[in-house]
Amino acid sequence: MAKGTFYIETYGCQMNEHDSEKMASLLEGLGLTPASEADKADVFIVNTCAIREKAEHKVYSALGKLTSYKAKNPAMVAVVAGCVAQQEKEKLLKRVRDLDAVLGTHQIAELPAVIEKIKHDRSRIVEASFCSDAGSLHIAAPRKGRSPVCSFVTIMQGCSNFCSYCVVPFTRGPEQSRARTEIISEVKELAARGVKEITLLGQNVNAYGKDRRDGDSFAGLLSNLDQIPGLLRVRFTTSHPRDFDDDLANAMADLGTVCEHIHLPLQSGSDRILRAMNRGYTFPEYRTKIRTLREAVPGVAITADMIVGFPGETEEDFQQTLQALEEIRFDQIFSFKFSARPNTAARRLPLHFEEEIKAERLAKVHALQDRITQEYHHAAEGTVEEVLIEGTSPKSGQLFGRTRTNKIVNLDAANDARVGDLIEVEIVRGLNHSLVGHKIGRTTQDS
Ligand code: 5AD
Ligand code: SF4
Repeated sequence: MAKGTFYIETYGCQMNEHDSEKMASLLEGLGLTPASEADKADVFIVNTCAIREKAEHKVYSALGKLTSYKAKNPAMVAVVAGCVAQQEKEKLLKRVRDLDAVLGTHQIAELPAVIEKIKHDRSRIVEASFCSDAGSLHIAAPRKGRSPVCSFVTIMQGCSNFCSYCVVPFTRGPEQSRARTEIISEVKELAARGVKEITLLGQNVNAYGKDRRDGDSFAGLLSNLDQIPGLLRVRFTTSHPRDFDDDLANAMADLGTVCEHIHLPLQSGSDRILRAMNRGYTFPEYRTKIRTLREAVPGVAITADMIVGFPGETEEDFQQTLQALEEIRFDQIFSFKFSARPNTAARRLPLHFEEEIKAERLAKVHALQDRITQEYHHAAEGTVEEVLIEGTSPKSGQLFGRTRTNKIVNLDAANDARVGDLIEVEIVRGLNHSLVGHKIGRTTQDS
């Protein structure tokens, strides 16, 4: 195939970000190089998100630009990948005239062949079936856009939980864990190339191994990864409260590489709504798990996702969500207005809310959580944190990194540190979304 350039526009979660990295590494394998702008690319890919309606709209506006791209560059190959591709399949090809291919979430490995075929005969292609062994699970992509010392590693894909609001089981298929040996060799290779921090990815990472029947567990995987020379930090996302157990709390307490942070989506503080969401736990059960975790791992940072305006959410249910935020005091949350999604059970429930009510509730959640997050950040002033330097901020030119608890720290001026250093930092200021720190020393590294 003639060499050329590619451009990937990515929407959505870290899973998608990493899938884009996988696609980029496949395209680089073909000899293509990244283009500086979309309209200059020979291959243009939109990697899409379907989690909420707003995300899907963004995809269609990105695709709206295709006509002008193709007018300038008729040989361009345009592909839609990701969750909207999986959800819409042929419909996307019909709706977007200039589109050449629709590639489902299990077909990333087919990308080179699809591009070859289009270049060869200009056929229009839809590949979007679920496979029992999704090829994309096995593609290692050793780059994380943000930093040369941090990398994502897929440990499982799909989700079999069917929360009543969620499109993921339909767009990513059933839960499939990747073989432990494959994960370990990918991480060893990354560590040998200088990667110091990995983030294990999956929709439900703490259910890792449950579909494999060979005795693998998430805590077991963490303890294997802890032995890898050169690897300093292990993070993971996303965990499900129902599958959170003492083994994971103990692994987080005992293993030096495992960072003191968990993203454990609560979604609602009302048991009635949690039941309607099919979440599989009550708020008192969630609270007990948090207590266990905080006892095992003092100072652990806990973040969550919350949904407001789920169909039938009464004012009392909503107040319980606010109370839950006050009680748990998450370090940070991501909160969303409920959005009715195709195929999901919640779409068919009665009592959907007007946008206005959802927006009001969301604003109350934001205000409350902003206060709590700021309180944490102010309380951090004067403390000393271990920070892994990830890069230089393009805006300020300052070095930045993260604490073990996943808080972003921008170093103040005159710090003699380099990307990849693990340093001791005194927090000098707590801002709304980040911390400012000053280097006071270097910590010993085991690499
Ligand atoms: N509406 C609003 N938020 C949603 N999420 C998932 N599906 C929906 C939906 N239909 C949120 C959940 C999930 C996060 C990734 O996105 O909070 O944890
Ligand atoms: Fe969606 Fe629930 Fe699966 Fe998370 S656990 S991906 S919210 S179905």
